[in-house]
Order: sequence, then C-alpha cells, then structure tokens
Amino acid sequence: MTVLDVRLLGDADVDAYVALRREMLADTPWSFLATPEDDVACDPVGLRARIAQDQNDIAGAFDATTGALLAVAGFGRMQRQKVRHRVGVWGVYTTPAARGRGAARAVMTLAITTARGWDGVRWIGLSVSDEAPAALGLYESLGFELWGTEPVAMVVQGRDHAELHMALEL
Ligand SMILES: CC(C)(COP(=O)(O)OP(=O)(O)OC[C@H]1O[C@@H](n2cnc3c(N)ncnc32)[C@H](O)[C@@H]1OP(=O)(O)O)[C@@H](O)C(=O)NCCC(=O)NCCS
Repeated sequence: MTVLDVRLLGDADVDAYVALRREMLADTPWSFLATPEDDVACDPVGLRARIAQDQNDIAGAFDATTGALLAVAGFGRMQRQKVRHRVGVWGVYTTPAARGRGAARAVMTLAITTARGWDGVRWIGLSVSDEAPAALGLYESLGFELWGTEPVAMVVQGRDHAELHMALEL
C-alpha cells in the first residue's frame, strides 16, 4: 500500500508539478480548459508567481517512500472585493498508476480544509466535464452540489464538451 504525504506545494516542488501538469493536459484534455501552449501552470516562472500569492495554493499527495508527486488540486481565492467570498478549485488530477487509492480525496480534503480557514470564504466552486464520472463521484462525495451545466464549455479537436458547475457552500 502506498503511504501518502499530503501537503501544500512550495518552490522546491515546481518542476515535479510542471511535469504532472503536462501529463494531465495530455491524459484527459476535456477535463482542463488549458492547453500546454496557453497554460500558465505549465510554465515554471508563472507557476512560482502563482503559488507565491497569498491564498493561492496547490495541494499535493506524494508517495512517502519515493517522493513522487502522485496527485494535485489547485485552489485560489478570488481577489477583488466583491468576490472575495469565493474560492475556485482547478487542476485536480491523479496520475493513472496511483488512482483508486484515495490520493485525490486527500488533496481535495486539504484544499477544502485550508480554504475553510480563510476568513470570509463562503463558496468553493469548480467545474467538471460531464465525461469525468470519477471526478463527479469524488466531488459529490465531498458535498459539492451541481448548480448549472454549460453545454458547450469547450471544443476539443472539433468536438463539443459540456461542463458541470458545482459548489460547496460553507
Ligand atoms: C478524478 C480523479 C482525480 C480521481 O482520482 P483518484 O485518486 O483515483 O480518486 P480517489 O481514489 O481519491 O477516490 C475518491 C473518490 O472519487 C470517486 N471515484 C474515484 N474513482 C472513481 C471511478 N472510477 N468511478 C466513480 N467514482 C470514482 C469515488 O467517490 C471515490 O471515493 P471512494 O474511493 O470512497 O469510493 C482521477 O480519476 C483523474 O485524475 N481523472 C482524470 C482527470 C480528471 O478528470 N480530473 C478532474 C478534473 S475536474
């Protein structure tokens, strides 16, 4: 059984994250709005700047034996005054060989617990492809509720994909 070390990523984790980010965009392109060409999180400089911001983090689950990064969940607070009660979750992914062992649940739980500690946060939102049943099951099991569907949220290689918008109200 893999023992997981679950924590927020820091500067030293940037290279491992960028490699996993590139992997996720290739693995399930319909699950992520970004492509490698236009993605800030694929760029080590952009990523460092993002996680250096206050209340803008990435939770990661590492193999406690090998140190390999297995799963991630990005989350950040909206900065402008009128929307500071909202946190957005992005880039939830577990590398295929590590799936089904609680890694995504662990990073999502750390993200939710951390965001709950940010004063004034009332809403944790995310969007999930209607072709990602595992992700949908994960979010529902954590208490996220569906509030809307965007029928043509993205077009991947000429095919339309819908997204489900979900939120956890605190
Ligand atoms: C969705 C994903 C992150 C789940 O990662 P994981 O580490 O395998 O998930 P976990 O083992 O932590 O499982 C947590 C919960 O997710 C749900 N789940 C996981 N795999 C599932 C599957 N194949 N079918 C249905 N539900 C599933 C279950 O509710 C599970 O809880 P349980 O084990 O108590 O039943 C992973 O499948 C993945 O990376 N998919 C591709 C990318 C993606 O769709 N990302 C989401 C973007 S919004």
